[in-house]
Order: sequence, then C-alpha cells, then structure tokens
Amino acid sequence: MDERVVKFKETADFIVQRTTTPPEIGIVLGSGLGTLANSIEQPTVMPYSEVPHFVHSTAIGHKGNLIFGTLGGKSVLAMQGRFHYYEGYSMEQVTFPVRVMAQLGIKALFVSNAAGGVNPGFHVGDLMIIRDHINLLPNPLIGKNIDEMGPRFPDMTRPYDPGLIQLVEKIAAAQHIKLHQGVYLAGTGPTYETPAEYAYFGKTGADAVGMSTTPEVIVARHSNIPVFGMSVITNEAHDFSANFVNAHADVVEAANKAAKTMSFLFRRLIEQM
Ligand code: HPA
Repeated sequence: MDERVVKFKETADFIVQRTTTPPEIGIVLGSGLGTLANSIEQPTVMPYSEVPHFVHSTAIGHKGNLIFGTLGGKSVLAMQGRFHYYEGYSMEQVTFPVRVMAQLGIKALFVSNAAGGVNPGFHVGDLMIIRDHINLLPNPLIGKNIDEMGPRFPDMTRPYDPGLIQLVEKIAAAQHIKLHQGVYLAGTGPTYETPAEYAYFGKTGADAVGMSTTPEVIVARHSNIPVFGMSVITNEAHDFSANFVNAHADVVEAANKAAKTMSFLFRRLIEQM
C-alpha cells in the first residue's frame, strides 16, 4: 500500500474511534466562517493538535478543530479552519484532511472561503456559489499518483456539482436570499492583489479571488466526490477610485456577518440532499 494511504487510514481510524457513525458530508470552513460549527448538533470536537498527522492552522480568523456531529439530519465532519499553502505547508499537508474524509467515505464535500470580489457587480457581504475555478496554486496531485484514491488524469469538467448548485438556488429563491454564481480564482497569497492584478484576474474570467479551496476541491474530485462551494465577498476589488486598503481584520469581520446566511444555506442543502 502507498505509504500516504497508510497515514490517511491511521487518521481515519483515530476519527472512527471517536465518532458514532461515518460522516456523510465533509465541510471546510474558511476565514471568519467557523461559526457554522456552532450549528452542529451533538458535537465531538477534536483539536488539530490531537489528530494524528494534522498540522496546526496558523491563519488569523481560523480555529483549529475537527468537529463531528449532525447538521440538517446528516452526520458531518467539519474543519473549523483550514491549512493554506501561504502558511508554508506542502500541498500534501494542505489537502491531507480531505484525503482522510475521502477515506471515511464522505458522499459530498462542502467548501467555503472569504474572497475578494473582482466582478463589479459584487459587494461586501454578498455570497457567491462557486460554479468553476481557476487554480493558480501548485496542483496537489503533482507527484506519483495515489491509485487507491483516483486516476492519474482526473476529469475537471464539472468541478462543482450542478445538482447541488440547482438545489441551493431553489432554497435561496424561496427565502429571497440573493446569490451570485461565479468563478473563484486561487492564488498563493499571502499578499492581497495589486490593482493591476485584480484587473488582470477579472479579465481572465475570475469573479472572486482568494488563497485557498482549489486544492481541497481538486483532491475531492480526484476521488470523484461531489463538491459544493461558496465564497463570501469580504472586499471589493473593482472600484479603484475608492481609497481603500485590504486589511485582514475587515475581511474576517465581513465574513462573520455573512456566515449566518451561509450556515443556513449549508444546513438546508444538507437536509434536502
Ligand atoms: N484577495 C485574495 N484573498 C482574499 C481576498 C482578496 O482580495 N479577500 C479575502 N481573501
């Protein structure tokens, strides 16, 4: 067996020993979005420091807990805080938790993030369903393929599940919740973009930019796990006549505000799957 799979199994075993049923849904909570974890019922909290082979999240606005419990009537395993490439972790470390979730047999992965809105129609506090992405981080599948997990050349024509997108649109429409759909672009960070970079990314087809998510999505799709993704627009990266600077504290605050609506949508979506 591939030695990487041995590690996935060791961590999966650790989680199995502490939980009652296998998780059906995996959830990754981004900057300022960790509050969704509060809606998880009968939670079992596992700090990353106690989970074998996990690294510790150092990003501001991120807690470092794995939370197992029930959401929308289904068993979920949520990451309250993720690992980023800009923290200095390898892509293998960044995506390790999703490999473990795959090993545990999740049926879908939900991902969320805080992002800068480059689409001029996007404003602070808006929510965007991720319809597609542009990955400018190193591809996490570079290296010897883990044949046990998926194929060498995975298909990426439907990175985000069209059925789940349709379902969330229906839920949001019934509640008069305004949602955008768009393309999420992931760069390495940790710098926010220059005005020229925002303009450039906008021209390449991006609607929102961030520093995460695409690695986890690629690894989930490698194992053919359906993915649902949502970005909270925490800063506007299109009106350069405004005199603004990007500050991480503001990004986290804006994310916190929108987290309630996002949590509602995630819960309803899980309920109706
Ligand atoms: N750029 C990159 N990452 C981000 C941004 C941004 O403008 N906002 C929140 N995360």
